[in-house]
Amino acid sequence: MRKRDFDKIKVSPSWAFNQDRSTNKWTHGYHRYPAKFLPNVVEKLIDLYPPEEGGMIADLFAGCGTTLVEAKAHGYASIGTDINPVATLITRVKTTPIDPIKLETEYNAFIAKFANYDSKAFIDMPTHKRIDYWFKPEQKYKVAFLYQCANEETDDKIREFFLVAISHILKNCSRWLQSSTKPQVDKIKPDVEPFGAFEQHCQQMMQSNKLFYEHLQTHNFFDVPCRIIEGDARRTGIEDASIDTIITSPPYVTSYEYADIHQLTGYWMELFDDLAKFRQKFIGTSYSGKTSLEVSGSKLATEIIKALDEKSHLIARNVATYFNDLNQVAEEMARILKDGGYACVVIGNTTIKEVQIKSAQVFFDFLRGAGLKEEKIIKRNIPYKLMPTLRDKNTGRFTTLDNKDCKKVYPNEYIIIMQK
Ligand SMILES: C[S@@+](CC[C@H](N)C(=O)[O-])C[C@H]1O[C@@H](n2cnc3c(N)ncnc32)[C@H](O)[C@@H]1O
Repeated sequence: MRKRDFDKIKVSPSWAFNQDRSTNKWTHGYHRYPAKFLPNVVEKLIDLYPPEEGGMIADLFAGCGTTLVEAKAHGYASIGTDINPVATLITRVKTTPIDPIKLETEYNAFIAKFANYDSKAFIDMPTHKRIDYWFKPEQKYKVAFLYQCANEETDDKIREFFLVAISHILKNCSRWLQSSTKPQVDKIKPDVEPFGAFEQHCQQMMQSNKLFYEHLQTHNFFDVPCRIIEGDARRTGIEDASIDTIITSPPYVTSYEYADIHQLTGYWMELFDDLAKFRQKFIGTSYSGKTSLEVSGSKLATEIIKALDEKSHLIARNVATYFNDLNQVAEEMARILKDGGYACVVIGNTTIKEVQIKSAQVFFDFLRGAGLKEEKIIKRNIPYKLMPTLRDKNTGRFTTLDNKDCKKVYPNEYIIIMQK
């Protein structure tokens, strides 16, 4: 097979979207999420590779649902999977617009309850010990009250809308260092008052909901199907040859620990109690616990693992596991695509211990191995605000300037487009 050198690909300025970023359009601004898509990229991919009539778009690593929201906004049916229950909750809410008048009535009733708040009254709240680690008592009781009010909602759509608003403000109202995605306590963080934070964020969400709702109503897209499944990208359960277009972005290797990042919501909503076990389900985690260094399907992958193993056996094992997981995902993508369908994969490279981890090219090898053929490879710059540009030289994790082991990474990524 013809060797493809990704280093020779030039950056495409038309994919930068420097002027007009749609990060707050529709419901995209409901909840922060690490490494989320720039919606403009998804929109452009949908325009270039639209499903045939009645066809379906899929995202196997749906995250906070950018692909599914854009699919719905454009009138295309979609399906997504993500292993993270926080991601599936956010996606469900972002793709389920609510009648704005009804929402406003429920919201007013919700905040009217704040007058009854009594910090000394008993509130039935989750008791995970980490909650006391992250929240000061005053914030904890107020957040518990917010949860209680949300859970009194009988309409599931509205209850989940409020839960997403609460989930988003948890970081602000806790001792978590605001500028960090890593679980790090900020000992001098000023207290944020939960009721005020909730009101402010809910109002923003309600404005976005209204615009999305009206857009869907105007275009008659209300009943366009959209389904999010809590599940594994390696075995999605999606029907064979049922998808026209995949638009997805796998996690970076050992960069973000999604399980850790979403632990506040996880503890409050009792989505998991054993963080260590939960972490292992994620692709790209440094807690994978696998031992083999064997990777099949990419000569480049084998060379990378060998070079890494000379520096750190543990990291080599984690990256080998990551590559093997990506290989399974490539097979899964080929399985669910219709003949002639397109897979669009947004993926970046990284450097760990001075070894270049060329994930994009390795994934391309896997996709070709799974029987897909190259349509186009695009290289684009990532706006630095969306993706940290500093990584720890040793672990490859995203970091901040105060880490003396940090290294600047060139912020670009590839969009690999393949056809079945
Ligand atoms: C780069 S993010 C995707 C962000 C998404 N494109 C968006 O706009 O929000 C990668 C996602 O992969 C998910 N993930 C990690 N391991 C997974 C697995 N085994 N199966 C499905 N999803 C997984 C993470 O929870 C995370 O949401």
